[in-house]
Amino acid sequence: MNILKKVQLKPFNTLSLDAIAEFYVKIQSEQDLLDALQFAQQQQLNVLILSGGSNMLLPEHIHALVIHMDIQGIEALAEDGQSVTWRVGAGEVWHDFVLYSTAHQAYGLQNLALIPGLVGASPVQNIGAYGVEAGEFIQSVEVYDRVLEKFSSISAQDCAFSYRHSIFKDDPNRYVICHVTFKLLKKAQLKLNYGDLKQAVGQDETAENLQNQVIKIRQSKLPDPKEFANVGSFFKNPVISQTDFIELSKSHENMPHYPQPHDQVKIAAGWLIDQAGWKGKTLGNVGMFHKQALVLVNYADAKLEDVKATYRAVQDDVYEKFNINLEPEPVLFDYSGLIQPHKR
Ligand code: EPU
Repeated sequence: MNILKKVQLKPFNTLSLDAIAEFYVKIQSEQDLLDALQFAQQQQLNVLILSGGSNMLLPEHIHALVIHMDIQGIEALAEDGQSVTWRVGAGEVWHDFVLYSTAHQAYGLQNLALIPGLVGASPVQNIGAYGVEAGEFIQSVEVYDRVLEKFSSISAQDCAFSYRHSIFKDDPNRYVICHVTFKLLKKAQLKLNYGDLKQAVGQDETAENLQNQVIKIRQSKLPDPKEFANVGSFFKNPVISQTDFIELSKSHENMPHYPQPHDQVKIAAGWLIDQAGWKGKTLGNVGMFHKQALVLVNYADAKLEDVKATYRAVQDDVYEKFNINLEPEPVLFDYSGLIQPHKR
């Protein structure tokens, strides 16, 4: 185990924020993780788990041990007439895993192609796109439980997956995800009901084509982090009550919305931000992307404070116009490496 000091995390977070980690270690096995945690305990340091860095907001200095997850490997565990079960290292690149599954005729994840980040982060916020969520295909998640100080396996049911949520979000400092086990289908059951996906797929209703179309749609709307530093959707789509929705739609007839269980309605945050005049607008060097208002972009050398100034201005304008509070999606860390709630 090679613990490094004063490591620049700019290349490891897709928003490209300057962030110096006082201590940093890359880990490739469960044993490495135990050694790293022991070091942190001896030095009385908090631990910050770094995965693909595609959903985090980092401060300029982090006085903690940053543990960079790099556990690799895809291992076939079981197979029957309908499905294959694979155990995947947390450090595998999500998109590469999706491509691998399609190439090996294992289906279900095609709608989730091109989502940035690593496999180990996929259960945390239950990544989702185009009508599919990762949780639908996760069988279990292997973790190190920092409270009980042991490795354990958590079944999908106990992960309590919902929209951009799981138990890993409720208790962010407790579990370190090491492996994720997926159960994928041998016969593709294409999900084409999101937006104009069906139209894009056309006559060629194969998983391979579906995957290609999802890639095309994402490339046409979402900025490539290598070109424009970003963390994907910056805000969650807000869910409001049916009563509030009816009231709001009196003055905003064309508001895109998606009915939810329990008399609730999901509103498109991108649309709200767009309507509030923020599509393509910047404050300093941070702005909302001109092709998709839901994506915040660091155009040049922004610091966390610049990002906060922009997203708070967006929140204020959306609140003023619609009386809706937008909740940021990425996770905010403080100087001591701990996760902080977003405050307005
Ligand atoms: N819209 C606008 N202006 C904009 C952006 C969107 O009017 O600038 C409208 C669109 O016309 C559409 C609606 O808002 O009617 C929804 O937009 P879109 O279909 O692009 O999806 P989204 O709600 O913005 C969500 C996820 C994405 C995911 C897509 C596809 C969230 C927070 N975001 O975006 O996830 O790829 O659906 O499933 O749920 C991510 O989490 O990083 C992410 C990219």
